[in-house]
Amino acid sequence: MSRFIVTLCLSGVLLSACGGDKQKAEEEKPAEAKVEEKTTEGSSEAITAEMLAQKYNLEAGKTVYEQSCQSCHMMGVAGAPIHAKKEAWSDRVSLGMDMLIKKSIEGYTGEAGMMPAKGGNPELSDEQVADAVAYMISEVI
Ligand code: HEC
Repeated sequence: MSRFIVTLCLSGVLLSACGGDKQKAEEEKPAEAKVEEKTTEGSSEAITAEMLAQKYNLEAGKTVYEQSCQSCHMMGVAGAPIHAKKEAWSDRVSLGMDMLIKKSIEGYTGEAGMMPAKGGNPELSDEQVADAVAYMISEVI
């Protein structure tokens, strides 16, 4: 039996489970996890308050929200997810910023109702819509 284990260790299959190496492997884990996090950044980057504040202009987004989005989103008109109400947004947040922004720019019809392209205000730039989405999401995470 012990020979079997030694063989496995030598073959490298259980290298990390063999004595000293085990500790080493555990120490290395956090670093590995970090690298993974980095490589998944981009399309579906995890949404955090810091990330939103860094990537988007939340102040500008708030103004856009007040002018073009709150008419529906403040009270939930036409099925719009209500602003700052976490339960209304939890499933949507998991879509990631890129998808939320894309759908807000292009508009879409979902199960709850119709979200018009750019909230019905074609004057808005894509960036302004992105900032408004970021502001709205920053209130529910
Ligand atoms: C005319 C009403 C209306 C206006 C104005 C409006 N929305 Fe919406 N919005 C909706 C509705 C309704 C939904 C939900 C559609 C569904 O999922 O069924 C929605 C959903 C969303 C979502 C969630 C998308 C998703 O994938 O779940 C985001 C983000 C959003 N709106 C952003 C905005 C922004 C930013 C503005 C302003 C630029 C805006 N909305 C203006 C009605 C509106």
